[in-house]
Amino acid sequence: MTVLSDLPELLRSARHIVVFTGAGVSAESGISTFRDDLTGLWSRFDVTDLATPDAFRRDPDLVWGWYEWRRMNVLRASPNAGHAAIAAMKRYVPKLTLITQNVDDLHERAGSGSVIHLHGSLFAPRCFACARPAGFADELPDEPEGGRRMAPPECSHCGGHVRPGVVWFGETLPQAALKAAFKAAESCQVLFSIGTSSLVNPAAEIPRVAAQAGAAVVQINPNPTPLDGLARFNLRGPSAQELPRLIENTWQKH
Ligand code: OAD
Repeated sequence: MTVLSDLPELLRSARHIVVFTGAGVSAESGISTFRDDLTGLWSRFDVTDLATPDAFRRDPDLVWGWYEWRRMNVLRASPNAGHAAIAAMKRYVPKLTLITQNVDDLHERAGSGSVIHLHGSLFAPRCFACARPAGFADELPDEPEGGRRMAPPECSHCGGHVRPGVVWFGETLPQAALKAAFKAAESCQVLFSIGTSSLVNPAAEIPRVAAQAGAAVVQINPNPTPLDGLARFNLRGPSAQELPRLIENTWQKH
């Protein structure tokens, strides 16, 4: 059996660590997760009204307003101690690949330079018609809970509606990002799965691919997930507490 005290030694000997994050890593920055009871976005809002290409076709103002509300929440938030610990870990390991399902920019703002964004970004809008990168309207007004209807900007090239730069249900993930993520998972010795319910494919396959290739999976999550049985280590707590403690015990006290 693997005991938790083996983890620091395993981390110190790893040549390549993959850190794979989900919404839970930003929870302590005040950003809502998706599936937590009561507080999760998908317990308060309907996916089919807001996060599919059809929803945008049907009601672009509703969808754009909702994503602008989410963007405003992120702009007002700050990275937490978990984001900072991941950025710090990079200094101690020969190679670290950071892969996130999050559409916020809190990893970058905590100092993680290169981040693979599997589900896109709230900060990279593009034209729904011609796919060219686009900008935002000048100002982001104060938004009520859930946002308010806002007409999306027009594409300066073709006049089409500008859409959020996130991956919606029914869409494929950015292929270069997905390829880079699987490649990293196949070649690492340790993979952290942090703050994700491990329910949404293909992203949820990444830790499984790493485990199959022989990596140790370390999960950080206050709640059980379908990954529990596969993870060699389960740290049951919020990432903003567990990560700094782990970094300190592994590299800083040593
Ligand atoms: P979920 O909302 O599905 O899961 C969040 C996970 O974070 C849960 O397992 C929580 O137990 C855990 N959690 C909550 N607070 C935490 C904390 N402080 N520290 C650590 N963990 C905590 O979010 P994701 O797994 O990221 O897709 O969701 C995956 C995808 O589903 C998202 O990227 C999004 C969503 O629909 C797209 O936008 C395409």
